[in-house]
Amino acid sequence: MTAAARPAQTVAVCARVDRNGLIAAECRSLTGGTADEDGIADCDTIDLVARSAYVQKGLHVIAGAGSFDALVAAVAAKEFPADDFRIDLHDPSGRVGRSTQEVATTLADVIPFGPDLRQPRHRFIVAASADRVLFGEVVAETDASYRRHDSKPWTTSSSLDGRFARALVNLVPTARSVLDPCCGAGSIVLEAAALGLEAHGVDWKPAMVGMTRENLAHFGYAATVVQADSRLHHQVADAIVTDLPYGHAIEADEPTIRAILERGAELAPEAVYVARADITLWLRAAGYSEVEVCTVRKRAGFTRWVHVARRTPVP
Ligand SMILES: C[S@@+](CC[C@H](N)C(=O)[O-])C[C@H]1O[C@@H](n2cnc3c(N)ncnc32)[C@H](O)[C@@H]1O
Repeated sequence: MTAAARPAQTVAVCARVDRNGLIAAECRSLTGGTADEDGIADCDTIDLVARSAYVQKGLHVIAGAGSFDALVAAVAAKEFPADDFRIDLHDPSGRVGRSTQEVATTLADVIPFGPDLRQPRHRFIVAASADRVLFGEVVAETDASYRRHDSKPWTTSSSLDGRFARALVNLVPTARSVLDPCCGAGSIVLEAAALGLEAHGVDWKPAMVGMTRENLAHFGYAATVVQADSRLHHQVADAIVTDLPYGHAIEADEPTIRAILERGAELAPEAVYVARADITLWLRAAGYSEVEVCTVRKRAGFTRWVHVARRTPVP
């Protein structure tokens, strides 16, 4: 392929990966790219960035170099539309060693167009990581629609925040229907419904069913929510996404959790299970042949284990 015919290189820019394995997992799932420690990933697609929780932007790369000075020279040598531009900096490790303003004014000097910081027609990002500095145009961005769900009328001490719940749903991006068999106040059901998916919630406590229904009604979302024991219910879906009661204050016993997993493996071919421990062995025993795990360390000192489980390997 000639250079002219080659499609533009795309990168995803994510929140810094650090203590949160879910950021890298969401990035891989939505874009096909592996985020480096500065949250930058070469990716296959940025088409799904709008729905993301932690992937902030998708860029078309215009120039790249090994240092900021070399990047300025590379940008100066390129021709690209840039009328009314704005330049921002993604440099969580401080590798460029300059402020956003210094970076923007240095590059503005070599771009033959005028800036407009308030209503830019072209938004550029300088993204720095250990071995490269990139200059790219923002062509996709999260709509951050999960944020509004943090003002839902009902939450419990076990409720997930909207961003975390959105990222969990994004680990199964091809699912068109999602079941949360332990829905609590409904954080995950809200995210699935907000994405236009067929959403189903189940909880054995009537109060939780009521909370989830009221939360959905508050935002005008449609979903089915039923009171049932998830060891026995029979709602099928493309994917299960749930935060298990395992390890929470009112601890569910091992046989109950394992029965929920076994039922889940019958009801959906893939699943995302959150627990306060690694339950890979239980998942395999329940019938899942493929299990990927990442961890999210919380400030309170506990760790959430996020498992993506598949009944049969996806070809
Ligand atoms: C960790 S909480 C879910 C929190 C929820 N993700 C939220 O954001 O509010 C787990 C829920 O599982 C429910 N649960 C536990 N065992 C269950 C069972 N066998 N069938 C249905 N629900 C169950 C509990 O009532 C509890 O609401």
